[in-house]
Amino acid sequence: MTLHETLETAIRTIPDYPKPGIMFRDITTLLGDASAFRRSVDELVHPYAGTKIEKIAGVEARGFILGGAMSHQLSAGFVPIRKKGKLPHDTVRIAYSLEYGVDEMEMHRDAVKPGDKVILVDDLIATGGTAEGAVKLLQQMGADVVAACFVIDLPDLGGRAKIEALGVPVRTLIEFEGD
Ligand code: PRP
Ligand code: MG
Repeated sequence: MTLHETLETAIRTIPDYPKPGIMFRDITTLLGDASAFRRSVDELVHPYAGTKIEKIAGVEARGFILGGAMSHQLSAGFVPIRKKGKLPHDTVRIAYSLEYGVDEMEMHRDAVKPGDKVILVDDLIATGGTAEGAVKLLQQMGADVVAACFVIDLPDLGGRAKIEALGVPVRTLIEFEGD
């Protein structure tokens, strides 16, 4: 199977979750499939093999799972970007837009150093509000965000352009249109 076929098979779609009209793209089935999980992580890290990446930054919660695996494979450190109030030390905080409303995310102030090459990862990009907040936090702390990676892109929601506008290339493994 091609990676695309593997992903189509391994990602579970749940109609009308969490509310009517939403097609929820569930990656727990992908994570539970050893081969699909490995192939996804291999593909995400592939362009950076042999290059020096200081940190992988993962967005709570599913970005932690992918980011941990990517960090291991690239021998990079891992930086958790969390919903506000979860991190114990000095943090930097940013408001970000959700489909309805706003929330805030945080990162430890000492998690990246100026000039660090960082890859951002999350399971999915939809409107791009979450990833935009995360990239801005990293850039505020002087990180060189070399890419933002996602397993799933919902291109109809336009997230990619928001991240590219920050000067960061976007890589995704599969698109679901009509969401
Ligand atoms: C989902 C998904 C991304 C974000 C993408 O997370 O895991 O992080 O939405 O949406 P956006 O591109 O429109 O910002 P969610 O906010 O549901 O939180 P969770 O991952 O902690 O469940
Ligand atoms: Mg999320």
